Amino acid sequence: MTTPIYYVNDAPHIGHAYTTLACDVLARFKRLDGFDVKFLTGTDEHGQKVEKSALAAGVDPKAFTDKVSQNFRDLADLMNFTHDDFIRTTEERHKHAVQDLWQKLMEKEEIYLDSYSGWYAVRDEAFYGEGELTDGPDGKKIAPSGAEVEWVEEPSYFFRLSTWGDKLLEFYDANPDFIAPQSRRNEVISFVKGGLRDLSVSRTTFKWGIPVPGDDEHIMYVWLDALTNYITGVGYPETESGEYAKYWPCDLHMVGKDILRFHAVYWPAFLLAAGLEAPKRVYAHGWWTNEGEKISKSFGNVIDPHDLVARYGLDQVRYFLLREVPFGNDGDFSHQAMVNRMNGELANDLGNLAQRVLSMVAKNCDGKLPVHGEFTDDDNRLLDAAGLLLEQLRDAIDRQSFNEGLEMVWVVIRAANGYVDSQAPWKLKKEDPQRMATVLYVLPEVIRRIALVLQPFMPDTMARMLDQLAIDPGKRSFACFGEGHSLLPGTTLPKPEGVFPRFVEEEV
Ligand code: MSP
Repeated sequence: MTTPIYYVNDAPHIGHAYTTLACDVLARFKRLDGFDVKFLTGTDEHGQKVEKSALAAGVDPKAFTDKVSQNFRDLADLMNFTHDDFIRTTEERHKHAVQDLWQKLMEKEEIYLDSYSGWYAVRDEAFYGEGELTDGPDGKKIAPSGAEVEWVEEPSYFFRLSTWGDKLLEFYDANPDFIAPQSRRNEVISFVKGGLRDLSVSRTTFKWGIPVPGDDEHIMYVWLDALTNYITGVGYPETESGEYAKYWPCDLHMVGKDILRFHAVYWPAFLLAAGLEAPKRVYAHGWWTNEGEKISKSFGNVIDPHDLVARYGLDQVRYFLLREVPFGNDGDFSHQAMVNRMNGELANDLGNLAQRVLSMVAKNCDGKLPVHGEFTDDDNRLLDAAGLLLEQLRDAIDRQSFNEGLEMVWVVIRAANGYVDSQAPWKLKKEDPQRMATVLYVLPEVIRRIALVLQPFMPDTMARMLDQLAIDPGKRSFACFGEGHSLLPGTTLPKPEGVFPRFVEEEV
């Protein structure tokens, strides 16, 4: 699976963290579930936009990209991302891959030389037709994305995109899960049905890009360059063996809704035209706003993930981003919403559950997991609900429905809290110690199952929770989820400690 490769014209913000986080959770989940995962991310370093930013910073583009690309690696460390490779489009291996793809397209006569005159938005690195534009202030023309466009006239190579419309529609038809969510699929299909024009795939008016093989006047269009990273990452142009043979076609390109057209129209067309396989799925997620406002450098409201993590904690931020909105929809970041989730669901629901259960075991059972008696219907109901979580999460994860998956876990957490209240083990100590032992066995076992399935979302805190249940690190994969790996009565547990602090508002 892949993330988009991020432009290095900017400092990384919460939107970039979000896309990679979604992939990280999927990658961790699949690895725990026994899959061989290749998870790719990186930086998109060529093009006019990056060149302009470098000029504005007064440095040459290479020095500029080296510096800013590092910020994205730092973000990955901060967020505890587990990508297997970080690709930079300025690397030799990538230049080699892109030039090879170009040559294949040339050989198949999918590319021809002509000249381009039309509108271009540097911010989007995209061409627009006259009919798509609106009038902005000062007589400027504005693209549907809100970006300003400029008039461009230059010699250019073109890709015969216009001939791929019907084949793309057939492809979407044969692969109903290729574009998700469904509403986005409909959007793409109607765009393609509207007719495709040939796509300009080279530029001559600036130099920061990969040269077109055999024509040094031209550099490649940055989107052709950038999209190719997905196959560079698996060793293209070597296709017969190695990682390409093993991992391509890729299972999932995760992208924001802003760049779906590039991934669901241009990219499969390039690949099919070159005689290569298209990816299996492209998921376009929604966008975050900040306290109701569009996030933008010019509004000064960019959310720096470093600040968020310092303030609320890493796993709290990871949880919030995937819990707050149905994946695919837009979401609004607000301090209040973050604190509500952090205090209500993490500190209260899950944190208290673990803390009070493990404290009771420490106090009433000599710090050892008690030996349980016969399970009652209430016990079995809760154990069974927790036992179903893995199957339920597998299904949600395969649909990228993160918040649905988390909600299913919270249904069990709430049921477990209800069970603590109704069984009242603190009362049983004198009345019925055997029953207390059973209740205080059932609850840690339920917590074990919850903590196992939550590992991909909150790896550090769940590791600490599993430590407190004295579960061997070798017994934390999903192969050890089932009943056969239930907690062993008599095991001594370490001293319990809370893993989810409450957020307390500072006095102003
Ligand atoms: N370089 C291209 C992608 C090339 S992929 C072959 C690009 N880069 S970008 O730096 O602009 O990053 C775009 C991605 O960042 C979006 O598609 C989305 O995944 C993420 N986000 C950027 N801002 C965002 C929000 N405000 N909210 C959510 N995600 C957003 O486009």
